[in-house]
Amino acid sequence: MADLAALTAQALVQIGASDSLTALDELRVQWLGRKGTLTEQLKSLGALSAAERPAAGARINAAKSELQAAIEVRHRLLEETAIASELKSGSIDVTLPGRGEAIGGIHPITRLRLRIEELFQHAGFEIATGPEVEDEFHNFEALNIPADHPARAMHDTFYLEDTADHERSLLLRTHTSPVQIRTMLQRKPPFALIAPGRVYRCDSDVSHSPMFHQVEGLLVDTGVSFANLKATLHQFLEALFEQSLKMRLRPSYFPFTEPSAEVDMTCVLCKGEGCRVCKQTGWLEVAGCGMVHPNVFKACAIDAEKYSGFAFGFGIERLAMLRYGVNDLRLFYDNDLRFLAQFARG
Ligand code: PHE
Repeated sequence: MADLAALTAQALVQIGASDSLTALDELRVQWLGRKGTLTEQLKSLGALSAAERPAAGARINAAKSELQAAIEVRHRLLEETAIASELKSGSIDVTLPGRGEAIGGIHPITRLRLRIEELFQHAGFEIATGPEVEDEFHNFEALNIPADHPARAMHDTFYLEDTADHERSLLLRTHTSPVQIRTMLQRKPPFALIAPGRVYRCDSDVSHSPMFHQVEGLLVDTGVSFANLKATLHQFLEALFEQSLKMRLRPSYFPFTEPSAEVDMTCVLCKGEGCRVCKQTGWLEVAGCGMVHPNVFKACAIDAEKYSGFAFGFGIERLAMLRYGVNDLRLFYDNDLRFLAQFARG
């Protein structure tokens, strides 16, 4: 075995004399690399007797550590010298401002949902959520939409699993009304809640997307009237759009409410004068609503003689398009930062 002390001394001199990071790295490879001098020494241990081996091994390892430490010290020194000389030569402009952090923003749909939630929470509504994969019972049956009902066609949807017991077939929920069913099955009135969330329908064009967001509301108590429904919606719309608006209810049909109505409000773009968006009518349809149908109460074991309630449903994308002046729904999903960054703050 070579004279370890002499080898180490030789290496230390070379390390101390190395004048660049590249030269230093070459030395590291030469001494400590896979085929380096000290590594070769370790390999030669096999030639020693079992009694001599441990002590010799320990000495080689100590020498390796010593060289490693010396290389690290030299490395730091060479690095500092390199930076210092670069600074001196003026090739680094220390007065340049830093690059800063790019801060992400909240998506406009989320931003509007949070605002809607806040407004309803101020009015005493709770926020309720439920699964996006629903069964037919919660999405249709309990809402007074039996299997052969034509209203199912309006909710053309994505089925995941068909079972013999069709009430249990799984599908992507077509509205957040099943959240209201889940609440009514679990709790006793009175309650006031909104159910925000993603819903799915087989639909796709400038104003429809196969996935979109709804906020539905439900209030059940004794003596709830249609006037309560109208006042709640009107106050909500004026608060959301931060202006006084006219609102009107048009008779309509939903299987789960009776009577049912469509909610129109003054077109916020033309202030009711008539424009392309409101098709010259001055009105915009923004929601569906009505008084909870007795059959829905029955499915949830709530006494329809004692309690009454109202329900409503808004599409968040539609409200966002009006509130932010966006003319194509698909922009919300294109992931184009030039579009999204406009909503990042404020
Ligand atoms: N669930 C209805 C829909 O998705 C909206 C709605 C909710 C209508 C509550 C009336 C009452 O179209």
